[in-house]
Amino acid sequence: MLMKNDFKFVSKHYATRADEKMKEVLMDPKGIGPSIHYYMIRGGSEQKNITVWEPGTISGEYIKTYGHYHIGDLSETYWVLFGSGVALLQKLAENENGEMISDEVEEFKAILTEVGQEIFMPKKFGHLLVNIGETYFVTADDSPVDFEERDPTSFPGHADYTLVQKMRGFAYYVVENNGKPALKRNPLYKSIKKEDLGGLKVIE
Ligand SMILES: [Fe+2]
Repeated sequence: MLMKNDFKFVSKHYATRADEKMKEVLMDPKGIGPSIHYYMIRGGSEQKNITVWEPGTISGEYIKTYGHYHIGDLSETYWVLFGSGVALLQKLAENENGEMISDEVEEFKAILTEVGQEIFMPKKFGHLLVNIGETYFVTADDSPVDFEERDPTSFPGHADYTLVQKMRGFAYYVVENNGKPALKRNPLYKSIKKEDLGGLKVIE
């Protein structure tokens, strides 16, 4: 029989990202999305973390993770386990104090993923992943997790979500265009110095 503490143990590893929170970073904040956009089983850098994305679009934008920057010099690796996705990476410009400038992108990358692929997220590169398929999209990653953290959906504990929230997402949204993924600029960003769009078309 499960005891009260066992449930506590389960909830420590399981987290979800709900629609109310995702509205902050959607291309269309009024769009109708699923109640949960993605599910996480958090094991940390040793046991690894598993993320499962719902398939589908919200006002044309594919379901994605919220996106974050790491605080400090932390890089991480993602392994694509199932489904079709696009990884977005962006590095912001910095001011003379080394602080990130929220609307100036130094470098942007979009990567179409393949099952079995390893995707390295270098330090300072904010990252998110998008499900462009009709099934669940599933990844593993080696990000450390702070289990003492109060908000269990903050994943990992050393992640900064505020810049993404302020800019309502990354510099491009991944959208469905005639059944295929394409990119649409987020107008809140002033500039992108260098970009590699992974062969994806940009639409207006
Ligand atoms: Fe991360």
